[in-house]
Amino acid sequence: MTAQFPGYFISFEGIDGAGKSTHIESFAQLIKDRHPDREIVLTREPGGTQLGEQLRGLLLDAPMNLETEALLMFAARREHIAQVIEPALRSGKIVISDRFTDASFAYQGGGRGLSLDKLNDLERWVQGRADGSLLQPNLTILFDLPGTVAEVRRSKVRAPDKFEQMDLTFFEKVRQEYLRRAKADSKRFHLVDATQTQESIWSGLQKLDIKLVDE
Ligand code: TYD
Repeated sequence: MTAQFPGYFISFEGIDGAGKSTHIESFAQLIKDRHPDREIVLTREPGGTQLGEQLRGLLLDAPMNLETEALLMFAARREHIAQVIEPALRSGKIVISDRFTDASFAYQGGGRGLSLDKLNDLERWVQGRADGSLLQPNLTILFDLPGTVAEVRRSKVRAPDKFEQMDLTFFEKVRQEYLRRAKADSKRFHLVDATQTQESIWSGLQKLDIKLVDE
């Protein structure tokens, strides 16, 4: 069961190089134009708080044990939920986050091989609520594309961080875990074929029908 708040929670996901960051700001503006009465909170993971951004610096640079990595991802997320996400949703705001828990299942689980049982436990710990529900995005937009295409795109833009240096097999495993989760929760996920041009992706995003809780 997903927790209900007056606000609305959207996450953007995909393997590195899929193009989610290209669209997230214009998407936030689009939602703002459609709902001028609602405040939009644009945030990211790992990060989103002062402590979370410090943890992000460590997570993206320092090599570490897999379980340490998962625990720090969820520690940053706990802080993000407590300080930013939950208060915003309670007061009716629209939260748009560049990544959330699906990334932990995809990267630490699918990519690096941490057991799904451990990830489920961490999710319950960090996102569980007193009524037994889990704090989850209302909508997750998954930018999907083959690892080979993403690799070419990444090589054109910037110096890679720790995750971006991983090989093709890693990204294929991350992608498969994202797709498995999307299939298992098709009501929450909206799949974007990220091999399309930026223009077609954008026109697809503009057609998304988003029903806010009080509408
Ligand atoms: P990303 O969101 O791609 O930001 P940027 O566009 O600045 O590169 O980078 C965050 C990285 O962190 C990405 O490689 C995925 C990884 N990550 C995890 O491995 N687990 C998680 O739970 C989260 C939130 C991110």
